[in-house]
Amino acid sequence: MEISKVGIIGVGTMGLGIAQVCAQAGYPVVAVKATPGSWEKAKKSLENSLNRSVERGKMKPEERDAIVSRLVFSNDERAVADCQLVIESVIENIDTKKDLFKRLESICGPDTLLTTNTSTLSVTAMMAVCKYRERIAGLHFFNPAPVMKLVEIIHAFETSEDAISSLNSFCTKIGKDPVIVQDTTGFIVNRLLTPYMLNAIRMLERGTGTISSIDHAMKSGAGLPMGPFELADYIGLDVVEAMALNIFMDVRHEHHAPPHTLTRLVQLGYLGRKSGKGFYDYSQKPPVQNPSLQRPVV
Ligand code: CAA
Repeated sequence: MEISKVGIIGVGTMGLGIAQVCAQAGYPVVAVKATPGSWEKAKKSLENSLNRSVERGKMKPEERDAIVSRLVFSNDERAVADCQLVIESVIENIDTKKDLFKRLESICGPDTLLTTNTSTLSVTAMMAVCKYRERIAGLHFFNPAPVMKLVEIIHAFETSEDAISSLNSFCTKIGKDPVIVQDTTGFIVNRLLTPYMLNAIRMLERGTGTISSIDHAMKSGAGLPMGPFELADYIGLDVVEAMALNIFMDVRHEHHAPPHTLTRLVQLGYLGRKSGKGFYDYSQKPPVQNPSLQRPVV
C-alpha cells in the first residue's frame, strides 16, 4: 500500500508530535481534534514548537513554513477519508478506541491502514470490532515524538504481513527506527519501563533514597537522560498509572500494581510537568521536590 497522505486522530502531546514528524518528512497530514472545542490551540502549540527549532537554528524558516503548509486541522473525523494511513492517538480508553475504529471503518476504504498509538491497550481488542482486520495494527511512538527514534509496530492477531511491511517502510521514510512487536500488554518498552518507574517509587517509599538521589543515581550511574521520577513526570503520572493498571490487569501480579504514592499524586491532580507538579514542583527553577511528599504517603 503506497501511503501518500496521513490522518491523525487526537491532537494531544503525542498526536501533535506524530503529525509534526509526518509533515516534516513531506507527507500531507490531516490532524483531527477528537474532543469538542477548537483545534486552534493545538495548531498554535505545534507552530510554537517549530518556531523554537527555528530560533535555535535547527530549522530554516522556509522548512517551518513548508511543514505548516502540509498540515490541515479539522474537527471532523471524515476529513481522513482520503488518507491511506490513519494513526489514532486519543485517550487511553479501550471503549473510546473501539468506537473510533468502528467509525473509521465506515469512513475509510477497506485498504486504509488503521493504526493505534496506544501504550498498553490490546490492539487485538480494537481489531476485534472491525470487519477488515488485516489492516489494523499498532504504531507506537515515544515522547517527544519528534526526537525519539523508535516506533513499535504492533503485529496484532490478524494483522497481515503486507500491512506490517507497509508500516515498516513508512516508519523508515519518516526517519524512525522501527521494531516489530507482537501484541502483548506494554509491548517492549513500556513493559520494561513501567515496572522500572514503579520500583523507583517503592524504593522511595522504603526510604532507600530521595527523589533527587534516585534520579541522580540512574542518570550518573546508568547513563540515562532522565531519572525515573523525572521520566514519570515527563510522561504524565496519570499515563504511568494507567499503564501500570493495564499491565497489572493482564498479569495479575502485585509487582505491577501502582504504588500508593503514584495513586495519591494522581488523585490530587499532580500529573507531572503538564500540571506543574508531580514528584517535582516545576514552579521553582530548578524544580524542587513536591512539598506534599514531605509527609509519608499512606
Ligand atoms: N519537540 C521537538 N524537539 C524537542 C522536544 C519536543 N517536544 N523536546 C526536546 N526536543 C529537542 C530539542 O530541540 C533538542 O534538539 P537539538 O539537540 O537538535 O537542539 C533535543 O531535543 C534535546 O532537548 P533539550 O536540549 O531541550 O533537552 P535534553 O537534552 O534534556 O533532552 C529529552 C530532552 C530529549 C526529552 C531527553 O531528556 C530524553 O531523551 N529523555 C527521555 C525521554 C524518554 O525516555 N521518552 C520515552 C518515554 S516512554 C513513552 O513515551 C511511551 C509511552 O507510551 C508513554
